Amino acid sequence: MDLSGKVAIITGAGGAIGRATARLFAQEGATVVLADLRKEGIEEVAREIADDGGKTSTVTLDVSDEQAAVHLVHSTLTAFGTLDILVNNAAISKETPILEIEAADWDRILAVNLRSVFLLSREAFRHMKTRGRGKIISMASASAKIGGLVVGAHYAASKAGVICFTKSLALQAAPFGINVNAVCPGPTRTPMTDAWGDKANKDFAAKIPFKRYGEPQEIAEAVLWLASERSKYVTGEILDVNGGLVMD
Ligand SMILES: NC(=O)c1ccc[n+]([C@@H]2O[C@H](COP(=O)([O-])OP(=O)(O)OC[C@H]3O[C@@H](n4cnc5c(N)ncnc54)[C@H](O)[C@@H]3O)[C@@H](O)[C@H]2O)c1
Repeated sequence: MDLSGKVAIITGAGGAIGRATARLFAQEGATVVLADLRKEGIEEVAREIADDGGKTSTVTLDVSDEQAAVHLVHSTLTAFGTLDILVNNAAISKETPILEIEAADWDRILAVNLRSVFLLSREAFRHMKTRGRGKIISMASASAKIGGLVVGAHYAASKAGVICFTKSLALQAAPFGINVNAVCPGPTRTPMTDAWGDKANKDFAAKIPFKRYGEPQEIAEAVLWLASERSKYVTGEILDVNGGLVMD
């Protein structure tokens, strides 16, 4: 899964799955642009990676902001001369029941989870198209396929949008040799699911054929495969990594 010489942007790189993905990419030789709303998280990841001998840069931004998204891709190109891999991983989630979702909350979740995927993928595609290669990987969710059992409908709907956007972009990017895929994690052991509480987590884990949640590293390994040359004939794929919770 060698990524030597590759330049990757990972959004939400200060979070659980983003961090695991960034560390794995760096171990495989990629230069990783760590992008996140929260500065402290990505600075910590950058230090961890530097301690292991890896190369990173950090960018603090709101991925739903068009100017900031455009700037992230442009500044990466200026700093490193290329962009080989984009991982759209940043997202927010809420467990609000539908009758309590305010319109502003709906808009915010859709903006961070879906609009950002469009904005960053558009900018990455613009560059990758001229090079005739590239990998775009976005984080969807099992809730996009079966509805949100714990997470809110706005979150699940945003992730369903990520799936359909991925397939549309895969069709348009294929003639240029670009792979566009998504990963659909089931519940994964992260602060996001910790916040659901012990009872909800125990009940949910019991419904999973493997009887446990995924680990951030296990999601990162799927992302790595999609970012590597080992998956070069794979595009438009929505890869389930969920211990058997959803099979389709
Ligand atoms: N944890 C799970 O069980 C689970 C399940 C299915 C899918 N996912 C998806 O996997 C991805 C990573 O999830 P996680 O559990 O590591 O989440 P997390 O909350 O640990 O990390 C998300 C990161 O995104 C960043 N972020 C939030 N809003 C942002 C914005 N506007 N601009 C830039 N950065 C922003 C946060 O600061 C955080 O560092 C997300 O897309 C999530 O929806 C997670």
